[in-house]
Amino acid sequence: MKRVITYGTFDMLHYGHINLLRRAKERGDYLIVGLSTDEFNWDSKQKKTYFSYEKRKQLLEAIRYVDLVIPEESWDQKPKDIELYQADEFVMGGDWRGKFDYLEEETGVKVTYLDRTPEISTTQIKQDLNDKSLVTDGTADL
Ligand code: CTP
Repeated sequence: MKRVITYGTFDMLHYGHINLLRRAKERGDYLIVGLSTDEFNWDSKQKKTYFSYEKRKQLLEAIRYVDLVIPEESWDQKPKDIELYQADEFVMGGDWRGKFDYLEEETGVKVTYLDRTPEISTTQIKQDLNDKSLVTDGTADL
């Protein structure tokens, strides 16, 4: 059985996330998602999510491509996870290109970057909703 592992925050789940998870799962038989905890998001990225870790985890677990969700609590847990969950391939979106190449040498895992789905991100959704809320006639087309 080929196991694939990926990491992310997956806040306000959108179709860019689904595309990434679908393509990651297609690369193997079993997909593990390392989901950034609220503390990790805040401490490492000063990022406050809209949905809590538990809510984000529930959403991910409801997706057919996802087999297991584990907490991501630090930047350096990846080699340990890869060994523990016997991951064969490590997948991330193209925004991380090059950043995790070191894992190949360190653990033997195959590292793959998938092109991001264009024109969608959690940040973009938040920004669009913010902008649209300035429209007062209630007819904003998102
Ligand atoms: N991703 C993707 N295509 C998008 C958005 C995200 O392939 N349009 C991928 C990322 O590259 C990453 C995973 O989905 O591998 C989780 O990304 P995350 O950072 O949680 O999502 P974003 O929407 O990029 O969130 P933010 O705007 O907060 O950075």
